[in-house]
Amino acid sequence: MMIPFLLALTLMAQPPRFGPNPELQAKTQADHKHLLELLKIESLRPGPSGTPTAPNAANSDEAKVGAYTLPDALTLKNGKKVTNKRDWEVRRKELFEDFDREMYGRTPKKTPKVTWEVTETLKEKKGEIAVVTKKLVGHVDNKEFPSIKIDIQLTLTTPESATKPVPVVLEFGFIFPTRPAPSGYPPAFAPPPGAGKSWQEQVLEKGWGYAILSPASVQADNGAGLREGIIGLVNKGEPRKPDDWGALKAWAWGASRALDYFETDKAVNAKRVAIEGLSRYGKAALVTMIEGLSRYGKAALVTMAYEPRFSIGYIGSSGTGGAKLYRRHFGEQIENVASSGEYHWMGGNFVKYASGALGPNDLPVDAHELVALCAPRPVFISCGSPFVEGNWVDSKGQFLAGVAAGPVYSLLGKKPLPVSEQPKIGESLIESDIAYRQHEGGHTIGPNWPYLLTWAERYWK
Ligand code: GCU
Repeated sequence: MMIPFLLALTLMAQPPRFGPNPELQAKTQADHKHLLELLKIESLRPGPSGTPTAPNAANSDEAKVGAYTLPDALTLKNGKKVTNKRDWEVRRKELFEDFDREMYGRTPKKTPKVTWEVTETLKEKKGEIAVVTKKLVGHVDNKEFPSIKIDIQLTLTTPESATKPVPVVLEFGFIFPTRPAPSGYPPAFAPPPGAGKSWQEQVLEKGWGYAILSPASVQADNGAGLREGIIGLVNKGEPRKPDDWGALKAWAWGASRALDYFETDKAVNAKRVAIEGLSRYGKAALVTMIEGLSRYGKAALVTMAYEPRFSIGYIGSSGTGGAKLYRRHFGEQIENVASSGEYHWMGGNFVKYASGALGPNDLPVDAHELVALCAPRPVFISCGSPFVEGNWVDSKGQFLAGVAAGPVYSLLGKKPLPVSEQPKIGESLIESDIAYRQHEGGHTIGPNWPYLLTWAERYWK
């Protein structure tokens, strides 16, 4: 059941991504080509295939991973070891700069204001639980460039019986098509028959609420849309510069705007909001965690370090560009993410690492440092079974990133993963502030929900 879903996504990620839509495909190719010209790159190396039987299949053999050395999250660029919180603040800024410039692009200093409107309030039932659902639209101020109009779509559902503000799990909704729909709201994902309670019901049973953001209403999930959406609006319809932000950062920006709204809604305890996403949205959830921190800026680093806006991260099968170590030669590779099917997630400079002599070992950072930037806040790295989900996402590479982020958590007085050997499928590491669990299913967070929620309860009770 799950393999075809991941394969479908994988195939979609290979050019051509848009199948029957030649216009979008041509626009994407043109934007990708423009970026290569800006970077003076003639061509990119092709990535391996996500189809295990293909002659150029991605590596799935541990024996062929090879040796690699990760950059040390706790060594400053001047070679000095970070041994205290003050030095970590310096190191953290270095890491932000590297991630901004080379990986995800820079979120603009000034972004337009968003005005939230509740367009509908429904009293309904989710399973046995009476809830209040608000449908919201975030109108993005476009007076600087009126031909791009953005209405962010968000729904918020809280238990009707709640007597005080409740914690909320905010999900980047996996909504197809992953382009802005002409109208409408994120449809609820119907669980497959017999799959038990939906994640939404499980969240409500804890007495919490949930919200679903439509990422595509902020920024399209393709290169063709880079001159539109929030990225296009800020650039007034011009193409991106090589260090401009990519879609992951744009979605993260949308999640931060949703959090702005939660801060004004008495139903929500805005200090207890988790960000959750699967796969490309798992990457976005990770990026959002660090965005939340960076937004608070310098002053906040000291005073607010223990009161960040996003309280918890649920990072589902985020793979390459998310929690998976780039330097581990297994599953999806840099070349896949740099291709015209995926480059829009990243800042433009990232594609350099799939060209000429540059490769993963030349990246100034690796995924463990992205996890480390979430510290001291709790992060749950969730994966499926390689036998069902496949090897593309490299569940071990994600686990090892969690392990390698450990020293930063320890430095900040938090609990790292307790072991450095990947646990067996179904074994939970949920006593630590970096948590990890590989469930028995496929490319979904599904079976991990009860564990995510039990773990979160420690923080939110
Ligand atoms: C493709 C892509 C992955 C991505 C996934 C998804 O498989 O190669 O990097 O995570 O799609 O977003 O579902």
